[in-house]
This record gives sequence, C-alpha cells and structure tokens, in this order.
Amino acid sequence: MRVSEGLQERLMGREGRILTRSLNPGQRVYGERLHHHGDAEWREWSLQRSKPAAYLALGGDLPLRRDDRLLYLGAASGTTASHFSDILDLGTIYCVEVSPRSFRDLVTVCGRRRNMIPVMGDAGRPQDLAFAVEGATAVYQDVAQKGQASMLAENMRAFGAERGMLALKSRSEDVTAAPASILERAVAKLESEGLTVVDARMLEPYEKDHAMVVVRA
Ligand SMILES: C[S@@+](CC[C@H](N)C(=O)[O-])C[C@H]1O[C@@H](n2cnc3c(N)ncnc32)[C@H](O)[C@@H]1O
Repeated sequence: MRVSEGLQERLMGREGRILTRSLNPGQRVYGERLHHHGDAEWREWSLQRSKPAAYLALGGDLPLRRDDRLLYLGAASGTTASHFSDILDLGTIYCVEVSPRSFRDLVTVCGRRRNMIPVMGDAGRPQDLAFAVEGATAVYQDVAQKGQASMLAENMRAFGAERGMLALKSRSEDVTAAPASILERAVAKLESEGLTVVDARMLEPYEKDHAMVVVRA
C-alpha cells in the first residue's frame, strides 16, 4: 500500500489491513474493529464498505494532505467521511448529503468529530452549497447519478479545489455499457474540462462496476 509522506502518521497498512488513526478514540462509527499500537488507537478501514480504502488496497495513493479543506459530495451517513476525518486531523471536511434520512445519521457522526461539518444540499448545485463551504482544497465525490465527471469538475471550479477524487459508479451513467468504457468516457470528460487525470482504475474485486479517478486542476 502506498501512503504519501505527509499522511504516514494518520494512515497505515498493517498485516493486510488498512488503518486510520482515530481522532475520536473509543468510538466506532460503523462497527469497525479498533486496534491499539503504543498509545494510539487505529480504526480498521473496510475495503468492502469504503471505496477509497479499496483504492488504497489496489495500489492507489490518496491525493490528500492533513490540513485539506475537503468538500465531500455524497457523504451518506459518514462511514468513509469518518476515515477522512481521522486522516485530515488538521483540516476540515464539508460533508454534503441530500437524503434527509442519511443526513440524520451524518449529523450524529459530525457531532462527535471536530473537523466534520454536515451540509444538507444538492451536489449538483454548487452555488447552493456556498453558504456553508468557504472554499475547498480538494473534492471527493461519491454520488450515484448521471453526469458524475461534470459534477466533479463543476464543484472543483466553484470552490477553487486543486485536487479531486471521483468514485465513479458506471451503472448510474449507463446500465448497458461496459464499465471500462464508461471509465474511458469519464476520463475524457474530465480532461475536456481542463483537469489532469493522475490515475484511474477499476475497484474490483472490492466494488463491482466502480472505478476511482484522481485528478488535478
Ligand atoms: C454511494 S452513497 C455514498 C456512500 C458514502 N460516500 C460512503 O462511502 O460512506 C451515495 C450518496 O449520495 C447521496 N446523493 C445522491 N445524489 C446526491 C446529490 N445530488 N447531492 C448530494 N448527495 C447526493 C445519496 O443520498 C447517498 O447517500
């Protein structure tokens, strides 16, 4: 597993597991296992339930810094966002979610973590998020709907982000096309929006029909 230098104190691979150093020791978010090394508590990051963890397990590297202001689009109930919260201990995560049901759980998770801010809103309308998001250095997007690449590009532009990660669900773009060709189309779209694609890979065997794309502005 590759971990960029700046993140090594917050993220590690050990005995085939991926662990993030808990910002909130003693608390589980989704029933994950806790590990203790020295005086630190580390949370096991599920490869099956979290696409960035699958991406790391497959050799990807997170384009994040500990002090990022991360705009997270499609935070659901905060499972993955809580691991970003562990990693970005000096930063802030703006967790955007449109579903009221998921948002209720998300508010509880955010209430226990000093760097997570819940934002009820539609990721397809960045202008409506500006009331809560001051600007972002990075965007992570996991929203299962059509036009995922354009949505990422639009949000990166709107908030001035330098780096982006797109968890691409191919079936939301086109149920009939092969996932690899949907990924190719998404990469082409991101490039046509002026972004540089740093990495793009399918997430099998952990996530069927999903890919991760990492971009730079
Ligand atoms: C696949 S789930 C996200 C899982 C989450 N990222 C995780 O790993 O813990 C997709 C989420 O996006 C939300 N969503 C869908 N469309 C959205 C939109 N336009 N704006 C914000 N959230 C949206 C859904 O309600 C759902 O909770």
